[in-house]
Amino acid sequence: MATDALSLSGVHAYYGDSHVLQDVSFTLGEARMLGLLGRNGAGKSTCMNVAMGLLAPRRGAVSVFGQDVSGCSPEQIAARGVALVPQGRRIFRSLSVRENLMVAAKKPIDSKHAASHAPWTIDTVFTMFPRLAERRDQMAAHLSGGEQQMLAIGRALMGNPSVLLMDEPSEGLAPQIVAEVMATIRKLKESGLSIILVEQNPQLVFDVADDIVILNTGQVAVASNPAALKQNDAVLRQHLGVF
Ligand SMILES: Nc1ncnc2c1ncn2[C@@H]1O[C@H](COP(=O)(O)OP(=O)(O)O)[C@@H](O)[C@H]1O
Ligand SMILES: [Mg+2]
Repeated sequence: MATDALSLSGVHAYYGDSHVLQDVSFTLGEARMLGLLGRNGAGKSTCMNVAMGLLAPRRGAVSVFGQDVSGCSPEQIAARGVALVPQGRRIFRSLSVRENLMVAAKKPIDSKHAASHAPWTIDTVFTMFPRLAERRDQMAAHLSGGEQQMLAIGRALMGNPSVLLMDEPSEGLAPQIVAEVMATIRKLKESGLSIILVEQNPQLVFDVADDIVILNTGQVAVASNPAALKQNDAVLRQHLGVF
């Protein structure tokens, strides 16, 4: 039977009185990639925050490899093999590239769900991102946007996750750099990682994702797959704007 890597079931989440996620359910299968789409403000990052334990759902449940983690801390959820590459990178700007990676190093959890590439080390991250290797002693603040994104991904990999949550990794990057980042994401998927890729641009996700969920104003508007959605401009226009 197919295993679920991560799922949200009937999640309601709030910022103060603001009811941001309303009965959101979706499932990421093991070794699959789920593209999470939606306009700005649709609730994509909030879903990632809930999945990572940064925001507790007020109702509903989050589970990782079948175990309920609702109400667990980010550290506890990370210990179950989940890592987040946050929107806006959030690297330590005043630390060097190498230091950014070192602080995130964690041995892989002893689990049958460990991705085949694990364990990640500084050396294997540098092999994946040669440009980071060249800049290992530079301060992260001095990296280009693309290099900072690679560092953010490398830092998440240093935690040796089985589930990788990537929140708009292409944001603010030039098209050529976006293509490089997407090639990396494809390799990570091939290594057996289960991945949620959050994007505003459906074209980027359609090429790599197995499953697609579109959020609209805090609710799941569409749960489908790339082949079906590519044929359906009306749905894309309705929930994502004009293409
Ligand atoms: N920290 C916060 N406090 C209050 N409201 C927030 C906060 N973060 C996001 N929101 C609101 O929650 C909604 C969903 O935001 P978000 O999950 O960031 O959307 P997306 O990632 O899809 O752009 C938006 O209306 C946004 O303004
Ligand atoms: Mg967001």
